[in-house]
Amino acid sequence: MWDNDGKRYIDGSAGPICVNIGYGVKEVLDAAFRQMEKISYAHSSHFTTRSVYEFTEKLAKFAPPGLGRVFLCSGGSEATEAAAKLSRQYHLERGEGSRYKVVARWQSYHGNTLGALSMSGNISRRRKYVPLLIDFPHIPPAYCYRCPFGKTRDACDLDCAWALDREIKATGPDYVSAFIAEPVVGATLGTVPAPDGYFQIIREVCDEHEVLFIADEVMTGLGRTGKNWGIDHWNVKPDIIATAKGLASGYIPLGACIASEKVFEEFKGPFAHGHTYGSHPVACAVGVAVLDYVEKHNLVRKSAELGEYLHKGLRDLYDHPTVGDVRGMGVFAGIEFVKDKESKEPFDAEVGFSRRVLERCFENGLLVYPGVAAVDGFRGDHIQVAPPLIITMAQIDEIIPLLDKSIGEAEGEVL
Ligand SMILES: Cc1ncc(COP(=O)(O)O)c(C=O)c1O
Repeated sequence: MWDNDGKRYIDGSAGPICVNIGYGVKEVLDAAFRQMEKISYAHSSHFTTRSVYEFTEKLAKFAPPGLGRVFLCSGGSEATEAAAKLSRQYHLERGEGSRYKVVARWQSYHGNTLGALSMSGNISRRRKYVPLLIDFPHIPPAYCYRCPFGKTRDACDLDCAWALDREIKATGPDYVSAFIAEPVVGATLGTVPAPDGYFQIIREVCDEHEVLFIADEVMTGLGRTGKNWGIDHWNVKPDIIATAKGLASGYIPLGACIASEKVFEEFKGPFAHGHTYGSHPVACAVGVAVLDYVEKHNLVRKSAELGEYLHKGLRDLYDHPTVGDVRGMGVFAGIEFVKDKESKEPFDAEVGFSRRVLERCFENGLLVYPGVAAVDGFRGDHIQVAPPLIITMAQIDEIIPLLDKSIGEAEGEVL
């Protein structure tokens, strides 16, 4: 990217991990223009356009087998809220009208509108709005670098997953409609994948209590982690996928819920939900062009291959005294910074270490996505490194030294 003064930046975070296919792709621009020429808007109570059919069909094929019923909206918060409402109506249709609570995890993010924020366990983003939120239960995160149960990986019995069983029993299974989780926790924890075995237990617990499992794939979907969907890494099938961001690669607002046949079959009437801009013809035309581009350029496979190269480069940054943990999968990486590597003690919030790294990176011509407060909602510094999936090895070779330099400069300011 170049700013108005001609200064060059490498986009090392795809905006907020959204611009998966990069900027200015002609096929996408043409698809939007062609659709606008045909018809720019048609309300779904009157018409369906061909672009809506094409997109939903394409998305259903891209989804895991058995998930193919698509509801369209305009972003991630709308998608996760729609998933919560879909889950509620699913239970109503089955004659279990007492079920409405969505269990989520602390230190997660599912969006900023009130319903989505009620599910989000991002303490710092919730704090000011707690009185407005729905009282949904939260369980501890799967955060191995700072295990909430004080365990290490070799002595781990996945308490973090069994916590769901305990929470559902404590809340009362008759009140719980769904569990929602990001397969790899994005902005709140800084790209933290679940440990192996975690989602298998989650699936088992959800099945036992007849609770739906919603995978929030707003950040992790569309190849970002090196597979079509983040949850594919664990061979577990969710009941509903909520997705957005990479779906239209930032060219236009677009989000979706993809439900399984099991969910769909319970519906005796339509899903009682919708927005003016759901199933937008132009957004769908863009969605088709973006998915075509992802497939034509093998971006999912590339994300897996280039991800390995990116992670190898990032691991060299462990030489820095503040680089505590490097993690992630595919072209989706995170770095957690600490004041002391041995004790993992974070910087005080006032130090603003990740903000300093962001500022130094920006000055040096690299864009990264910063985050704070992963440790306890107050302290903690991380950045996400997740460039567009069209990144080349040569460009990764530019990113690593820029990060190295910027982290060094931030350390120079505070150590
Ligand atoms: C995992 C996850 N879910 C939901 C959202 C909300 O998406 P939006 O900002 O499009 O409403 C985000 C946004 O960052 C996200 O990362």
